[in-house]
Amino acid sequence: MANTILVGAQWGDEGKGKIIDVLTEQADVVVRTQGGNNAGHTVYIGKKKYVLHLIPSGILRKKKTCVIGNGVVVDPIGLVSEIEGLRKLGIKVNGNLFVSETAHVVFPYHRELDAQREVLKGKNKIGTTKRGIGPAYGDKAARVGLRVIDLVNTERFEDKLATKIKENNEVLKAFGAKPLSFKQVYAAYREAGDYLKPFVTNTVIFLHEALRRGDDVLFEGAQGTFLDIDHGTYPYVTSSNTTSGGACTGSGVAPNRMDRVVGVLKAYTTRVGEGPLPTENAEIADMLHAMGREFGATTGRARRCGWFDSVATRHATMVNGIDDLAVTNIDGLDTVETIKVCIGYRDGKKKYDYMPNDVEVLARCEPVYAEFPGWRTPTHNARSWKQLPPKCREYLKAIAELTEAKLFIASVGPGREQTIFV
Ligand code: IMP
Ligand code: MG
Repeated sequence: MANTILVGAQWGDEGKGKIIDVLTEQADVVVRTQGGNNAGHTVYIGKKKYVLHLIPSGILRKKKTCVIGNGVVVDPIGLVSEIEGLRKLGIKVNGNLFVSETAHVVFPYHRELDAQREVLKGKNKIGTTKRGIGPAYGDKAARVGLRVIDLVNTERFEDKLATKIKENNEVLKAFGAKPLSFKQVYAAYREAGDYLKPFVTNTVIFLHEALRRGDDVLFEGAQGTFLDIDHGTYPYVTSSNTTSGGACTGSGVAPNRMDRVVGVLKAYTTRVGEGPLPTENAEIADMLHAMGREFGATTGRARRCGWFDSVATRHATMVNGIDDLAVTNIDGLDTVETIKVCIGYRDGKKKYDYMPNDVEVLARCEPVYAEFPGWRTPTHNARSWKQLPPKCREYLKAIAELTEAKLFIASVGPGREQTIFV
């Protein structure tokens, strides 16, 4: 399979978890390189449902090694409970998971500050997952964060944490929020640190040893292109580079070691949280929610839904260098009579064939649509390209062409077997 970067080509929740699980079959090592437990990757194996937040989905397959890279922000309490949860489901997590020493740690004050800042923003809130992601990356950039290497060092962690709690309690008080108890936080983090210590290593060295052996590495992206801190709809974004470059900085594996980029996208568009979504449409949202689809894996929030936006996905191809496309949730459109695809934006008289950077302009933009006849046939039993209805194939070919990348996978349901290699 060679070294593959997998990214979300929309606003997250493209179905990356399932595609990663499928591609992992051919990989040796799976690496998370950015984000934290704000992510929620859902994987179905048979009738069993697994939701992963920090641990790469590769953990669900035997004989694969999983790495949480330096670019990730780790909530140690969350990670311990995820490991425990997987073990209860009979998944082996022992000797197959490695956590970077230099990944930054998320603390309760990050979560509290995340929540407080959202309250302060009022109607301009971002709609974060309140997992403390923004404040944790903020501390990293400000060079005042603590890293996993500090957490597992019993000698220096106590002092470092004491200083951080003192400082952050002043900030929390200014927000009118309750200060944290050092004793409680310390006890919980000490326990989690001791639990995690056997997993912690120099993952850069580890990954390069694997590469030297000829292992194939899959870099699993979290969130999506338009939630990228640089390339997304700022400030309605997450705090990491969700685009393909993040796989390099977040792992220590250089761009020239990467062989291809796979972009995952839904056959329509969804977004959780606030910020512009040009093709948002109440009818398609009601239809999908009525089918029980499109509720967030991390927060349970109903996702906002809209038509496929090829202006956005073409931009995603550009900034990520997407070679191959995996289109998911095709079956979500099975009952639609006429399917719309956004092929441009209009702001008054001005037309755009790219995404304007000004979120206010983007929020004002009206989509220009092309229409496709729906196939109105269930697709979830299709197992080959030929078994897909002709109109469905036409639609998939059209969105791949508009996105300017090669159609590689068509996914017609959550199951592994519902994966069509085109
Ligand atoms: P944060 O990452 O929790 O700070 O949230 C920032 C924005 O990114 C919000 O709009 C969230 O809903 C969104 N977001 C964060 N993680 C995910 C994800 O895994 N899927 C979809 N949206 C996400
Ligand atoms: Mg998700």
